[in-house]
Amino acid sequence: MSTLPPLLDARGRALRDLRISVTDRCNFRCVYCMPKTVFGRGYPFLPRAELLSFEEIARLARLFAARGVKKIRLTGGEPLLRNGIERLIELLAAIPGLEIALTTNGALLAQKAAALAAAGLKRVTVSLDALDEAVFARINEAGCSVARVLDGIEAAAAAGLSPIKINCVVKRGMNESEIVPLARHFRGSGHILRFIEYMDAGSANGWRLDEVVPSAEVLRRIGEHFPLEPLEPNYPGEVAQRWRYRDGAGELGVISSVTRAFCDACTRLRLSTEGRLYTCLFASEGFDLRALMRSGASDEALDAALAQVWAARQDRYSQLRLQATPGLKKIEMHYIGG
Ligand code: GTP
Ligand code: 5AD
Ligand code: SF4
Ligand code: SF4
Repeated sequence: MSTLPPLLDARGRALRDLRISVTDRCNFRCVYCMPKTVFGRGYPFLPRAELLSFEEIARLARLFAARGVKKIRLTGGEPLLRNGIERLIELLAAIPGLEIALTTNGALLAQKAAALAAAGLKRVTVSLDALDEAVFARINEAGCSVARVLDGIEAAAAAGLSPIKINCVVKRGMNESEIVPLARHFRGSGHILRFIEYMDAGSANGWRLDEVVPSAEVLRRIGEHFPLEPLEPNYPGEVAQRWRYRDGAGELGVISSVTRAFCDACTRLRLSTEGRLYTCLFASEGFDLRALMRSGASDEALDAALAQVWAARQDRYSQLRLQATPGLKKIEMHYIGG
């Protein structure tokens, strides 16, 4: 419930969604996010004392909720690696007016789904880039089978964490062959499959424009097998464009942040694992809320700081991407959350 005036940024966009990264660690090494060559053994992940505590996160979440945030999405790294994540979900679910969602790679979901739902989680989004075991193994480089992720999805459905969304990042030469099989598998399941254009997040993945498979191509490939028609967005500014199978087998989505930027309606703020606020997925600098909080700041002072960060926000990176400096230092996706 908003008790303070809603916040608008410098482009008139309201603050609605907060994405909180709860760990910078991951049990996968996806080639487009945390390639093994960069994130090998000995990579200096954040030490425990650097992480925001659950109480610190919940305190900030209450302040954000009072400023109009309606949805909190827990991300990582892999959020299910954070010890006691259920306790954080309980703290957040107790804040009135907030919907709590989580994005996971699914490896630990089968064992955790019931406890997450009992703690108050409403929905999960599960990443799955291939159905073919060999292709999936080459992408995650962590020895997690497709079957294990599918078990996680079914456990989440059984626990009532629906509608479940399945995120598939498509990269040229990596998994275009999986587009149609994934569509075939999830048609009629009630889960919503979404194809994401490979993005230039961070600098570890060596992104190249010619490795992006445009959403238009994804839709064409699927449409050749299963005719599609567009659907209206669920709400203005929805990240995914919605489509449905003409034969009634449900919907799917495409997220086209490269070929069709959606910055004009971007209502998202990101809180990193160690308490920095980033006003864009592609921001290079974050505001250090943790330092302020640990220096003994009052709720009023924290609120004033976050309001100021949002009010000054100008970001529209995806719109500027093609003109932007290629050398720009950007935050890695595993650190800031997707
Ligand atoms: P729901 O509508 O609640 O399902 O949330 P969502 O669509 O934001 O879902 P999710 O968090 O799964 O986002 C899907 C993917 O879209 C992310 O993993 C990112 O790859 C991409 N994405 C989400 N937000 C942004 C954003 O603000 N900018 C850009 N460029 N990409 C984004
Ligand atoms: N481009 C597009 N999506 C990405 N993700 C991670 N890195 C990238 C990238 N470079 C996605 C993951 C997951 C979500 C958190 O972000 O697949 O679904
Ligand atoms: Fe893969 Fe997500 Fe882990 Fe990145 S954070 S390596 S996308 S599972
Ligand atoms: Fe929002 Fe930045 Fe993504 Fe644009 S690029 S949609 S401003 S997070």
